[in-house]
Amino acid sequence: MQVTNKMNIVMIGLPGSGKGTQAIKLANKYGLKHITSGELLREEATKDTETGDKIRQLMKTGELFPDNLVNKILKDNVPKENYILDGYPRKISQVHTFDDIDLVIYIVIPDEVAVERILNRDEGRVDDNKEAAKKRIKCFHSETEKVLEYYADARKLVTVDGNQDIESVFNCVVDEINKKYQ
Ligand code: AP5
Repeated sequence: MQVTNKMNIVMIGLPGSGKGTQAIKLANKYGLKHITSGELLREEATKDTETGDKIRQLMKTGELFPDNLVNKILKDNVPKENYILDGYPRKISQVHTFDDIDLVIYIVIPDEVAVERILNRDEGRVDDNKEAAKKRIKCFHSETEKVLEYYADARKLVTVDGNQDIESVFNCVVDEINKKYQ
């Protein structure tokens, strides 16, 4: 059990695992700043700049972005404490950008559920199609699983079954937070 007055949390999971959905609920419950790397990139993509143009091209493919593009945007938006990082880090080269992470919550769902949720989402995202979804899932297995190993070794990783309804997942996430912080 950790006695602390700060909460720095990372949410990790396959695309469509519900990490964004859960992060919003947690941010509301605990008064944390919610930072989504994908959302920051999508915001940047609306700008008529060279970076915006680069992001628009890359986003369609479902590939992970180069660190130099993502890291700067993240650093400009993450406070010193009391935050939830959603979608960052997702490569081993990103784990030291923020060294004061207390807890990493891995929301687990099968690949086929990820595809189903992505294809059912109707928000006009350029990467919500079968081909990009497959690429995003592949990137998770090849890159982000190394991040999971890193946090497991650091004893900061907990896993939650994401293949249940949203409130049940949330209850499990809150249980893990209570174990860590109270
Ligand atoms: P990002 O925006 O982070 O996308 P993602 O990881 O693919 O995740 P999603 O937003 O698709 O899913 P989610 O897990 O948040 O689920 P959600 O709650 O939305 O990143 C986009 C791209 O940016 C990446 O592919 C990459 O190219 C780039 N990028 C981002 N970060 C990067 C980084 N650090 N380094 C390099 N590149 C980076 O839920 C999904 C759907 O399921 C919703 O419709 C929701 O309503 C539904 N749902 C949620 N929970 C449940 C449930 N329990 N039961 C049923 N339905 C549910």
